[in-house]
Amino acid sequence: MTTVADRSVPEVDAIRHHYEVSNDFYRLLLGPTMMYSGGYWEEGEGLTQALDEAQERKLDRFVELAGAAGAGRVLDIGCGWGTMLNRATSVHGVREGVGLTLSRTQERFVASLDNPRITARVESWEDHVADEPYDAAFCINALEHFVSSELPPRERAKKFRVFFQKVAANLRPGARLVLHTMTAEALPMNRRLLDDLKFLQRSEFENCHIPHLHELTGGAEGLFDVVEIVNERESFAVACRAWLELLAARRDEAVALEGEEVVARFERYLDIFAYTLEDRFFNNFRITVARR
Ligand SMILES: C[S@@+](CC[C@H](N)C(=O)[O-])C[C@H]1O[C@@H](n2cnc3c(N)ncnc32)[C@H](O)[C@@H]1O
Repeated sequence: MTTVADRSVPEVDAIRHHYEVSNDFYRLLLGPTMMYSGGYWEEGEGLTQALDEAQERKLDRFVELAGAAGAGRVLDIGCGWGTMLNRATSVHGVREGVGLTLSRTQERFVASLDNPRITARVESWEDHVADEPYDAAFCINALEHFVSSELPPRERAKKFRVFFQKVAANLRPGARLVLHTMTAEALPMNRRLLDDLKFLQRSEFENCHIPHLHELTGGAEGLFDVVEIVNERESFAVACRAWLELLAARRDEAVALEGEEVVARFERYLDIFAYTLEDRFFNNFRITVARR
């Protein structure tokens, strides 16, 4: 049976366009923790100086919320470079971590971490069937890629429902899912924002749909109990600003690795995410749910 990851379909190509830029470039952009999502900075901390601590604080809090410390098996849907699984197994006593990604360069990076307790699979969440149920799951700033903006609202709602059904089927009863995701509420239609959204849709994250909160709560209804929903908009805006600073400081090296066009694309999209979060066009919700 061919899986989503085997096919050269526009959604997979769009993910690889962004996530198969070299690991060296991403290390320069994201710093040693290689987390590509919001972090928890404390009052007065420097953006880049405290980037690693901010990311680790976030990971530790997520493990706590998921009740994952000492767990047998955890799943990370959209696992990036494996940092969550690496920390969960090496600091929090998790026995085994499985990560899903569509990026082949991320899979190779995770293998190079040489942690026998974790595996990244090039597999879409749609195709993943657990051999035995997981004790906890994470999905950290990845859901934004899972449902195409080309779909009409009713079809999008169905796809979000399928996402929660799949996760529920892979979790033991009572196990928790901790999600971090941007959401879009009512967007004002000014010209700059329209131009920037067009750039995101056409050039960087083709057909990516930033969900509405109601699509997520609707999708989870009856399958999960909602434990907590918190808007952490700043956590992602600050991370985007920190990555922009790191990129500016080593711009020449970044251009030598990937070329001017790629670097300029990243600068533009990171600035768009930073200001749209700061100006409250987008949110970044942390949603914790428990499987019924
Ligand atoms: C912004 S990165 C976040 C990575 C990681 N969670 C972190 O916080 O650093 C989004 C991740 O979602 C993955 N992804 C996108 N579409 C996917 C799909 N259909 N199935 C599994 N993973 C997917 C990408 O490959 C990438 O690893």
